[in-house]
Amino acid sequence: MEEDLIGIKNTALSFILEAEDLDNLEETKLQFLGRSGKLTLAMKEITKVPVEKRKEFGILLNEIKQTIEDAIETQKSKLKGQKLNRTVEKIDVTNPGIKPTLGHLHLVTQAIEEITSIFEKIGFEKLRYPEVEWDWYAFEALNFPDNHPARDDWETFFIKGKSDPKKGPMLLTPHTSSGQIREMERKQKPPIRMLNIAKCYRRQSDVSHSPMFHQFEGLVVDKDISITHLKGTLDYFVKSWFGEKRQSRIRPYHFQFTEPSFEVDVSCGVCLGKGCKLCKAGWLEMGGAGMVHPNVLKAGGIDPDKYTGFAFGWGVERVLMMREGLKIDDLRILYSNNLEFLQQF
Ligand code: DAH
Repeated sequence: MEEDLIGIKNTALSFILEAEDLDNLEETKLQFLGRSGKLTLAMKEITKVPVEKRKEFGILLNEIKQTIEDAIETQKSKLKGQKLNRTVEKIDVTNPGIKPTLGHLHLVTQAIEEITSIFEKIGFEKLRYPEVEWDWYAFEALNFPDNHPARDDWETFFIKGKSDPKKGPMLLTPHTSSGQIREMERKQKPPIRMLNIAKCYRRQSDVSHSPMFHQFEGLVVDKDISITHLKGTLDYFVKSWFGEKRQSRIRPYHFQFTEPSFEVDVSCGVCLGKGCKLCKAGWLEMGGAGMVHPNVLKAGGIDPDKYTGFAFGWGVERVLMMREGLKIDDLRILYSNNLEFLQQF
C-alpha cells in the first residue's frame, strides 16, 4: 500500500515538472487530485488498511497530497514567469537600438581644463588654495589697508567666529588673488609661475552675477620680469583661447595689489578691432592685470629689490561667454542644473 503511494507521488512530481504549460499542469492536477484522480482513489482505500495502521497511513497520505499541491503551485509560478519572459525576450532586430544617454563635463569644467592646458604649455603650474581663507591673504597682504573702501568692491562673505590676531577674520575667497601670497609662502623663493583656478564668492546675485563663480589667476615672479612678459603672456592666451586673429590690449587702471595696474581688452571677434555694432569701439573688456606691488612681494616674504612679477585674474565664466558669444539672459542658469541648457554643450 505504502509503496503504491510513494509511486503515485513520484509519478505526479515528474509529470508536474514536465508540464510545459498551464493547461498541461491543470490536466496533471486532475489526473492525481481530481475526483477520480489517482491519489483521491488511493485515499478511498484507507478502509482496507488495518485499524492500527490507519493513522500512520493517513499522515502519509496528507503529506503526499501537500507535496503534490506545493509542486503544482511552484510549477505554476514558474510557467507564468516564463510566459512573461517570452514576451519580453522577443527581439525585433530591425528596430533601431536604444542609445544610452551619456553625460559630459559641465561647460565651466570644460573651460577650466582648457585654460589649464593653455597655461601649462608655457610652464605655469596649476594649484589650488583654501576657499575658506583668512582676511590676511585676501586683503591685508594684498596691500588693502584695514577699512580701505576698495574692500567694499569685493562684497565679501565673512565667516562668524574668532579672528586671528595677525590674519584677521575668516572669509570665503572673493577672488583668486589670495593665492598669490599663499604661493609665495609655499615656494619661499622665486621662480614662481602659478595658475590658480578656483571658486570665488561674492554677495551679489542678479542676472549677470552668481554668488559663486570661478576665476583663473596667474602669478609670475622672477628676476627682471617686466610688462613685456605680461603682454606676451596675455597675447598668447588671447590667441590660444579666442583664435589666432585676436589681439590683446592693456589700459591703465587701478588695483591695490599691482603697480602699474591694467585692464585687459581683447579685440572684437567680428570686426577685429575696427569697431562694429556688436562691440562699438572694437575691443571687449576681459579683466585685470598688473605688475605685483612691492608691498605684496614683501608680505609674501620676497625681496622686491631683487625680484619683480606680474599677475592677472579673470573670470572663467566671463571668458567662456565672450568666446562662445553666448547671450544668456541670466548667468545663474549655469549653476541651476537645468539639463535642457547643459545638454547643449
Ligand atoms: N582680483 C581682481 C578681481 O577680482 C582681479 C585681478 C586684477 C587679479 C589684477 C590680478 C591683477 O592678479 O593683477 O577683480
